[in-house]
Amino acid sequence: MAETIPDLRDLPRSLAYDALLEHVDATLAGIEDPIAAMATISALLHHGFGHLWTGFYRVVEAETLLRVGPYQGSLGCLEIAFGRGVCGTAAAERRTLIVDDVHAFPGHITCDARSRSEIVVPVTGRDGALLAVLDIDSEHLAAFGETDRVALERLVAWFAR
Ligand code: SME
Repeated sequence: MAETIPDLRDLPRSLAYDALLEHVDATLAGIEDPIAAMATISALLHHGFGHLWTGFYRVVEAETLLRVGPYQGSLGCLEIAFGRGVCGTAAAERRTLIVDDVHAFPGHITCDARSRSEIVVPVTGRDGALLAVLDIDSEHLAAFGETDRVALERLVAWFAR
């Protein structure tokens, strides 16, 4: 079953995530390369749910700078300083941020004018340091909630294993 994209759009979110997590584990079996994992997770999440933009910003200077990593969607900005925008704030505070309306978030970085809401989840590596953030953007307002937070935090726990 490994290298196929499941269509999760019509499933209840929690069931969709159960299927997605199982699929990610099966697809990444035997893989230890974090970049390969970021690319695979981006593709499965993005096409499985039909998001606007799905991808990773990697920490390239600790506590200072994020740089774009594997993603799916339209052009992502290349670098984000810690503390800037939703991604930089989630990285600096090392906590998941859910933004129901990006226009109401001070300093939101617009890469695609269609973006309306987003969730950003910190990704910790095996050494316990911040490795990246997972950023998912939607063209719908308030597209993400607690179910997404819990499931996506479980998903990115792959990088700490
Ligand atoms: N939404 C992000 C910027 C990155 S892109 O949307 C791909 C932010 O404000 O951090």
